[in-house]
Amino acid sequence: MAKILVTGAAGFIGSHTTDFLLAEGQTVVGVDNLRTGHRENLTAALRSPRFALHPLDVAAPGALAALVAAERPDAIIHLAALVSVQESIANPALNFSLNLQATHLVAEAARASGVGRVVFASSAAIYGDGVAQPVREAAEKRPVSPYGAAKLASEDLLLGHGACYGFTVRCQRYFNVYGPRQDPASPYSGVISIFARRYREGKPVAIYGDGRQTRDFVAVRDVARANALAATRPGLISGAVNICTGRATSLRELAEIFSTHNPGVAAPTYAPARPGDILHSLGDPASAGAELGFKATTAVAKGLAELISETAVPLLS
Ligand code: UD1
Repeated sequence: MAKILVTGAAGFIGSHTTDFLLAEGQTVVGVDNLRTGHRENLTAALRSPRFALHPLDVAAPGALAALVAAERPDAIIHLAALVSVQESIANPALNFSLNLQATHLVAEAARASGVGRVVFASSAAIYGDGVAQPVREAAEKRPVSPYGAAKLASEDLLLGHGACYGFTVRCQRYFNVYGPRQDPASPYSGVISIFARRYREGKPVAIYGDGRQTRDFVAVRDVARANALAATRPGLISGAVNICTGRATSLRELAEIFSTHNPGVAAPTYAPARPGDILHSLGDPASAGAELGFKATTAVAKGLAELISETAVPLLS
């Protein structure tokens, strides 16, 4: 069994990845500054003797390096980030610090302590718009947001470090991840978390643009498994793969699924498209299958039905 350091462990993807690794019998060193993560996401993990949470900021120089030197993990899964495209547009300086500078500190910590593998939370946002769909990893990268640009630069930074100093780098290009614990609190939150909350409260959702934009929605439990594979599968060499389903769902279809489960909620309203918003984002999952042995198994209709029933407010009787 391995010791894995997970940055962003109290976040949405980080907490599911932590739970998955612990269930496999691995030891997890969690790191989170709790800016957008929540300790409650780790309620189950914190009961495990194989888990500890370190409340530190990955972007603070020296902090992570000291922990990595003390813990000597076999791998680092770097998930701590500013997660929203829209927030990166509103605050590009914070995006630079959290999504690029912090990656450099992770790469340096790995180099200094001889960590064998780094898994990085990259994004479909690196491809930008107008790429042939489904997008393959070799496609031209034309990010259209500070977020996409920082994720792309981070991939290169890590891959260069890994090639030079001798560690394996696995870049996971997540498409649109959804599931339990995704925080709907901010206007920058993932669309499924926002829709789930609005429908639950009986309020209509807003669709930005004409609703014909599409996304490849991948369930967080599948993503957690993909992260565990990237961190622990023997014999992997450095590379980047899409973490996606290969199925497109439009925003209109998404709203329809929610209204089927919540009849009586008023139809969606329409608002202008968001700047920096990609029109279509559909991934080709073949490389993740070939390189990691990963295939997403949760269809969006099933994943949403589970999410809706899990978060439903129980009726008072
Ligand atoms: C998402 C992720 C990002 C990831 C990227 C990969 C979040 C917050 N962002 O960005 O981390 O790297 O996928 O491609 O999870 N929308 C509405 N109504 C709403 C909210 C959103 O119509 O109330 C629309 C948006 O305009 C957009 C789509 O839903 O067209 C998806 O938006 P969002 O969930 O914010 O994700 P992405 O921008 O695709």
